[in-house]
Amino acid sequence: MHDIKNIVIIGSGQMGSGIGQVALMAGYNVTMIDIKDEFVDKAYILIENGIKKLEEKGALGEGISAADIMERCKKSTDIASAMKDADLMIEAVVENMNIKKDVFKTCGENSRSHCILASNTSTMSITEMGKASGRPDKCIGLHFFNPVPLMRLIEVIYSEESSNESIEIGMNFSEKLPCLKGKRYIAKVLKDRPGFLVNRITAPVQIYQNYVFDSCAERGISWEALDNDTIGGPMAITVLADFTGIDTMYHGQLYYSKTLSPDFAPGRVVTQLFNEGKFGAKTGQGFHDWSKGRPQPNKDAGKAKIYNIKYPIAIMVNEACRTLEEAIIPSWKVIDDALMAGFNMPPPMAPNINNSAKIVDDLNELMDLTGKEYFKPCDLLISEKWVDMK
Ligand SMILES: NC(=O)c1ccc[n+]([C@@H]2O[C@H](COP(=O)([O-])OP(=O)(O)OC[C@H]3O[C@@H](n4cnc5c(N)ncnc54)[C@H](O)[C@@H]3O)[C@@H](O)[C@H]2O)c1
Repeated sequence: MHDIKNIVIIGSGQMGSGIGQVALMAGYNVTMIDIKDEFVDKAYILIENGIKKLEEKGALGEGISAADIMERCKKSTDIASAMKDADLMIEAVVENMNIKKDVFKTCGENSRSHCILASNTSTMSITEMGKASGRPDKCIGLHFFNPVPLMRLIEVIYSEESSNESIEIGMNFSEKLPCLKGKRYIAKVLKDRPGFLVNRITAPVQIYQNYVFDSCAERGISWEALDNDTIGGPMAITVLADFTGIDTMYHGQLYYSKTLSPDFAPGRVVTQLFNEGKFGAKTGQGFHDWSKGRPQPNKDAGKAKIYNIKYPIAIMVNEACRTLEEAIIPSWKVIDDALMAGFNMPPPMAPNINNSAKIVDDLNELMDLTGKEYFKPCDLLISEKWVDMK
């Protein structure tokens, strides 16, 4: 098993920068890559600022300076030459399969045979990317969560052809990465299915969200009022959508609509925001204006009284049961822990071990309300046998 020393990160946007920062902090040599110098320069400054802030707080450790760490960070726009001495590549380009396959092909052709090729895709098939690389046994998923320095979860994902050794290298590497809020939680995901683990479990909530967004738009209800329905959760619903990126959501929903069910097709509001280039925090405008920082709640807007938290919970329990049925993961405890580590989300499974029948009722009600077949309760949930899969 080769030691990992040199890491190439392709795609220096929101995720690439975060991954670069923690890899540098763990002591690796990192090359940040993007299509234009200005994008890699921006990522470099973002990483440097993040690390300098930690230096000011005395959080880098004895005798370690931000300047020392940044000395191990290189920048490039040339994938082929950067890959020559890479031990691990992490791809974090836009969520577009053709672009990802091109990246994997170039990496496969220009790297040493031991080099692990990993994708940070939120949804897409690692197996397809592996085939494009010409070295499918070396390809794995390394799925990080936003913001990478703060969110503890990393999913290490088997493609249909990943070798056990490649997965072990991915696990060891992930465990070495620092996290500013607690200990990293690494989940081994056994199957390459759309959305992998936590994104898969939360994905169908987007079908419900699209219903909610479109209903608000039809009835002239403000986003602030809708956000007030979701107070108490980790982040208000439209703020979270802006933070995730409307483009990422739109592409993800399109992908799920092709791979899981047509019910995932992007709703009218999300499609309009996407077509207008209002991608959320990263472009300064989405549901909200982000030019002055994160939008703050407006209590005066009242409540929309449209969003009901019982539905997302029922949807997630049902989808989690499907991931157990499909043997993507063997245990609902891992699902609970991963949702907390990746999304700061209260665990859906443990509090519901005695509630399967009620959840089935909620799902049937939701099917009537939205007309979406995808909310049909699955067999494992109906049988209540999932409770034994701890
Ligand atoms: N945003 C999230 O919350 C999140 C979480 C987990 C995973 N992801 C996944 O991570 C990936 C990146 O997402 P992001 O939010 O960082 O997007 P982003 O738009 O912030 O960054 C993507 C970067 O890739 C660059 N890029 C595009 N084509 C390229 C190419 N051919 N070569 C090199 N660079 C290229 C772009 O210029 C851009 O800088 C996506 O696959 C996304 O699904 C996103």
